[in-house]
Amino acid sequence: METETKKKTKEEKSFQRKLLWRFLKGSKLFFIISMLTAAVAALADMVSPQIIRMAVDNALGGKEADLPAYVQALVDRFGGFSYLGEHIWIMAVAILIVAGVKVLAQYCFRVYNTKGAETLTKTMRDQLFGHIERLPYAWHARHRTGDIIQRCTSDIDTMKRFVSEQMTSIFRILVLLALSLGFMISMNWKLTLIAMAPVPWIILRSFYFHKKIGAAFLDCDENEGKLSAMAQENLTGVRVVRAFGRERYEKDRFEAQNEYYTSLWMKLARPMSRFWSVSDVLSGIQIMLIVVFGSVYCIRGEMLPGAYIAFLSYGAIMTWPIRMLGRMISEMSKAGVSIDRVAYIMEAEEEQEHGLALAAPMDRDIAFEHVSFGYEGSPEILHDVSFTMQAGTTLGILGGTGSGKSTMMLLLDKLYELPEGGGRITIGGVDVKDIETGHLRKNIAMVLQEPYLFSRSIAENIGITEQDMPMERIREAASAACLDETVESFQKGYDTFVGERGVTLSGGQKQRAAIARALTQKAPIMILDDSLSAVDTETDARIRGALEARFGSASILLISHRITTLSKADKILVLDHGRIVEQGSHDELRQAGGIYQKICEIQSGSAEEVATA
Ligand SMILES: Nc1ncnc2c1ncn2[C@@H]1O[C@H](COP(=O)(O)OP(=O)(O)OP(=O)(O)O)[C@@H](O)[C@H]1O
Ligand SMILES: [Mg+2]
Repeated sequence: METETKKKTKEEKSFQRKLLWRFLKGSKLFFIISMLTAAVAALADMVSPQIIRMAVDNALGGKEADLPAYVQALVDRFGGFSYLGEHIWIMAVAILIVAGVKVLAQYCFRVYNTKGAETLTKTMRDQLFGHIERLPYAWHARHRTGDIIQRCTSDIDTMKRFVSEQMTSIFRILVLLALSLGFMISMNWKLTLIAMAPVPWIILRSFYFHKKIGAAFLDCDENEGKLSAMAQENLTGVRVVRAFGRERYEKDRFEAQNEYYTSLWMKLARPMSRFWSVSDVLSGIQIMLIVVFGSVYCIRGEMLPGAYIAFLSYGAIMTWPIRMLGRMISEMSKAGVSIDRVAYIMEAEEEQEHGLALAAPMDRDIAFEHVSFGYEGSPEILHDVSFTMQAGTTLGILGGTGSGKSTMMLLLDKLYELPEGGGRITIGGVDVKDIETGHLRKNIAMVLQEPYLFSRSIAENIGITEQDMPMERIREAASAACLDETVESFQKGYDTFVGERGVTLSGGQKQRAAIARALTQKAPIMILDDSLSAVDTETDARIRGALEARFGSASILLISHRITTLSKADKILVLDHGRIVEQGSHDELRQAGGIYQKICEIQSGSAEEVATA
């Protein structure tokens, strides 16, 4: 999954802004409260040095104060500076009260910020998962699971941090900077100018740094995705890895990727360290400027000692935010990358109803009319495929590997859509494009070529097609799929827990569980894509018998490489490199002198026996 590194277009930016806004639903109020409380805390930070200044210069120093009217009024209410000078503890209490307000504001900030952050993360996860669930099958086939998972976890986390830490911090820093600037200018504008001299430099540097480092972060993120995809794929394919003794090879491959990924971070270490060290020096210079020039102004009598102390306090208070501003901006580049990566998923179009969304009856004839299809970016696979299948009959499909059998089924189930000019697939004369997707899929029970079982109990796996399916129906389906006896022989029966992807079941048991699952759907159309390949011929025959007996009225599409499986079908299609080369009944085809006859002869023995039985 490649993320575009090109400059974001206006539409992309506006999409991302809207996306963030949508994600903020439910957490906005929390963030507003947290920002307000952050502003109160910043204000409290600013007020303490002013009280100290008044205590030193006016209350103790006895100098005339030039204060705003409301502050003067407050001082007068407490008896004026001469009284406060004799009762200095009142000013100490005032500092304590301000500190108390700050603690309270900070407490509220943490609480509401955490609430906001967690609500935001939940909303993001829910929306992302919901969206991914609704994305077309074709999209999933194109993307790696490990990468999608990374986007749903660490990228979501980065976005959370962006809003709950970086945005609020930047707001807080800006408030703090604005307030301290205001207070400092009111005390001595010349010293303020000197003290602020390094600030634009610090901010510009971090800006430049953040721009440069963005590409490197993107590279790191993409390689982390590759690494987790590799690990995930390996865990999924653990059987293959073990069976072929490829542990060493896979370990080396993982290590190489891991080393490359680590080296990317290592490469970042130097510029990052340089950046932080220089930032430290700059902050030191800032304090030094205040100390040097402040002392000069004090000696010259242009500034009072209390104001000097307050200046130093502001300088110290600002050191942290100015340095953080650099960090926040540089971390924002990471968030930008994550937003890109999450937006990439959210931008993908959900499965759409492109037709009339009819709830057409499905127990009708199925027809492929001049169907030609190729996967995106690949050559054409199906060439002008046309056939009709009568409702309630069984259609067998035989064809070499890669001839396009599964593709035909995916097209029928609208898991891939036929492009314009690619022919038509109809059920009862209605184009599948015009049949509502949910309705279509509910009425087509599909057993995929590679059955997938969830790590849940056997009963849950079979009854997955409906919520709270009664046990009776599960048993009934299992018995039609000849799985009943096997399950009964397990110690925990239907409650037996199936290992991840069904590893604790045999291939044939897995296939039968998948068939049972499809049977619970009681659909008028059933697709068995090579679904009997892993069961022995006897069970194969029993399952087909049971299917016929119980689901005689259903239209069954039966893909198989086994002649015995296909022989009883009403009609058989032979597919060769995406073209239908033969069609007819078993009896017609086995004497037609084509591929079917050849395969019949190769598989002779048992095929002939069954056919003539
Ligand atoms: N998602 C995909 N993207 C691109 N090409 C694909 C995709 N899925 C399948 N193909 C290609 O399409 C061709 C037909 O695949 P399909 O799965 O339909 O074959 P099949 O007849 O079912 O084969 P088999 O008997 O082995 O199951 C193959 O060459 C395959 O490589
Ligand atoms: Mg197939």
